[in-house]
Amino acid sequence: MGLKRIAVFISGGGTNLQSLIRHIHGKYGSIELVISSNPKAYGLKRAEENKIENLYINPNRDEEILERLREKEIDFIVLAGYLQKISSPLVTAYRGKIINIHPSLIPSFCGPDYYGIKVHQKAIEYGVKISGATVHFVDEGMDTGPIIMQEAVEVYPEDKPEDLQNRVLDVEHKILSESVKKMCQDKLILNGRIVKVIE
Ligand code: GRF
Repeated sequence: MGLKRIAVFISGGGTNLQSLIRHIHGKYGSIELVISSNPKAYGLKRAEENKIENLYINPNRDEEILERLREKEIDFIVLAGYLQKISSPLVTAYRGKIINIHPSLIPSFCGPDYYGIKVHQKAIEYGVKISGATVHFVDEGMDTGPIIMQEAVEVYPEDKPEDLQNRVLDVEHKILSESVKKMCQDKLILNGRIVKVIE
């Protein structure tokens, strides 16, 4: 039984992808494919540098995405800064096999209008004292699937959105790698909305 075969979906810089390459790739899982919704995503370069197959696919082209995933015999999908909603056919085909990282403590500051720096702007405007990151399973909604892991960070009065973004990004890298490791080890037990993470 070889390593689990992982596809990573990106749209931008790919620092979460880089963290997975460093902590997961070749150890707990094998990143076989990187798909970007943005042809200019720096994350594509990171994949290339690590000799991982990578390509841009228009996010509306479900059939092409599914075809590639089948070709590479992908076991599960990690959305790492992927700014598009996953279509129902893809969710159905990989139910319980797609995880996402979101830069807030869901259910706060999530959903259709909350992505990138905007999430942190809204958190600071609201005046929250903690924010953080969430890893969750992907279902038909936007940031609505069962929660796998969360970790909080403090929000300081003098914070600018970029300060909070950087503090949260460190936590994203950590809990995404931990979650993907547990996924590769079949140590995530989903029971309704409750996810049990086996130590
Ligand atoms: C991260 O904050 C991620 O949570 C969000 O988009 C940002 C992209 O990060 N979805 P990167 O592309 O992994 O650097």
